[in-house]
Amino acid sequence: IACSGSWVQGSPGRRDAPMPSPRLLVLFGSQTGTAQDVSERLGREARRRHLECRVQALDSYPVANLINEPLVIFVCATTGQGDPPDNMKSFWRFIFRKNLPPTSLCQMDFAVLGLGDSSYAKFNFVAKKLHRRLLQLGGAALLPVCLGDDQHELGPDAAIDPWLHSLWEKVLELLPVPLGLGVIPPEVPLPSKFTLRFLREAPGPDSEERHVAGTDPPSPPSELQPFLAPMVANQRVTGPSHFQDVRLIEFDIAGSGISFVAGDVVLIQPENTARHVQQFCQVLGLDPDQRFVLQPRESGSPHPERLPQPCSVRHLVSKYLDVASVPRRSFFELLACLSPHALEREKLLELSSAAGQEALHEYCTRPRRTALEVLSDFPHTAAAVPPDYLLDLIPPIRPRAFSIASSLLARPARLQILVAVVQYQTRLKEPRRGLCSSWLASLDPGQGPVRVPLWVRPGGLAFPQTPDTPVIMVGPGTGVAPFRAAVQERVAQGQRGNLLFFGCRQRDQDFYWEAEWTELEERGCLTLVTAFSREQEQKVYVQHRLRERGPLVWELLDRWGACFYLAGNAKYMPADVSAALTSVFQEEGGLSGPDAAAYLARLQRTQRFQTETWA
Ligand code: 2AM
Repeated sequence: IACSGSWVQGSPGRRDAPMPSPRLLVLFGSQTGTAQDVSERLGREARRRHLECRVQALDSYPVANLINEPLVIFVCATTGQGDPPDNMKSFWRFIFRKNLPPTSLCQMDFAVLGLGDSSYAKFNFVAKKLHRRLLQLGGAALLPVCLGDDQHELGPDAAIDPWLHSLWEKVLELLPVPLGLGVIPPEVPLPSKFTLRFLREAPGPDSEERHVAGTDPPSPPSELQPFLAPMVANQRVTGPSHFQDVRLIEFDIAGSGISFVAGDVVLIQPENTARHVQQFCQVLGLDPDQRFVLQPRESGSPHPERLPQPCSVRHLVSKYLDVASVPRRSFFELLACLSPHALEREKLLELSSAAGQEALHEYCTRPRRTALEVLSDFPHTAAAVPPDYLLDLIPPIRPRAFSIASSLLARPARLQILVAVVQYQTRLKEPRRGLCSSWLASLDPGQGPVRVPLWVRPGGLAFPQTPDTPVIMVGPGTGVAPFRAAVQERVAQGQRGNLLFFGCRQRDQDFYWEAEWTELEERGCLTLVTAFSREQEQKVYVQHRLRERGPLVWELLDRWGACFYLAGNAKYMPADVSAALTSVFQEEGGLSGPDAAAYLARLQRTQRFQTETWA
């Protein structure tokens, strides 16, 4: 195989060396967990076909080994405006290196399964681009790329199910199952990934203090070692008549080793409410005080690093199992296998069958019914779930990212975020609540010490370091958070040229940091343009103001090389603001429609148009 220096074999480590290379490899890039879930489904389907299969996040796989892999399935989500998920970003940089020879992957058969949302312009961009690149590097595609679509009324499974069917036909041509071994039918449960060995001794404290509480010298906290940050403020910043509870939350990070700049995000590891923990233990018949040791059943299932050993059931349920998440099809498949109750099993089988996907959507996905609520609906099944299967059944609680809203230059040793508390009603009686935002809102530092596990990482926005580059920032609602950090940082560094477009409903209800902005304007450090959407008959949004200020925006961009930033709700606002911007290019710059679009694309390519959006 032609092999350039770029594909030099990684050193897999002595312990791994004698292991035979598994035949089928599934690599995923997942942001919200769907791609990981689909990958794990692939892993289970492979096990049912007696195939060795490894499932790994792209960035935890030593990419140099790829040249030796005979068969790889890539499962990749597309996020935001066509970006790869965070856990495949280094793979993405590597695979697009210019010096990789075109025959690098000539031994590899591959298939790419994409997960995207067709309401975004760059639908499944990552999967399509990866498919093309793998072909360019000599790989042979087993199938055309699969385009899973969140917008489809049956979700991405509508595209995935038939695609997987064809995939297994192709895979079994390449890797035939030994004669006499049929496919393990879906009603037979596969062995659990772990066993829980309960300890007989009296309950004691969990050995869970892995969190750094200020080491010397400080090592930067990470997902595996978060900093338990004291919360020092938690204040509602929306007026009493505003529909949303938005909190300004502040943490003390002194001695944590945490450092950040404007544009960075903080990751917060939330936990379940005590009520949910108690209900879950009750429906499953678990004693929260019992402690256990987790043992992997197969070498391929590493111990979840976030869990202490030994661990209490309470710790597992409150801090690890995402019992308030909306379960996926695999949850129903496994429950059906484990159910001892004929009627419940029949219903679960229906909900996990291909034909039952519409019913599953109506029952679970659309009303956002949680795993805990489903288990309560199937009490005989829930009570019979063997604890060994808990980690197969319920996914881990994911950390949530928030744009950092303060600068260390203005507030040393402090970190602030602006959190909209997510709560909405579906046809279910109980309101739906965002796990992390509701948990944060419930914490009251006035009632005693409160600590929150967190760490930071770079976000999607990077501000210019050159002192003379002006910035144009568009941040309606909580989208203004990263710009609060940027303005504080830039003002502290004496950087002028800060133009901020802020939109909210009403001046007296949700105009965050009004006094601060006014003071900065008076000092000549900031130009603020506001759009109050509900103070007049017609809606006025940031994009309307952007067009009104077209001459200034064009001059800053075209003459002074300004950078343009956009943050906030991903629904319609980013597309609306981009459209307003291209019309400014046409009206003020005299560009044709296609030239204006090309101008915007060039700004994007050169990092002078950056966005951070959230659902
Ligand atoms: P609305 O709620 O009155 O429609 C922060 O949420 C601000 O963003 C609010 O004033 C909200 O207005 C506004 N907003 C809603 N949709 C928007 C869009 N598509 N583009 C820009 N701003 C929008």
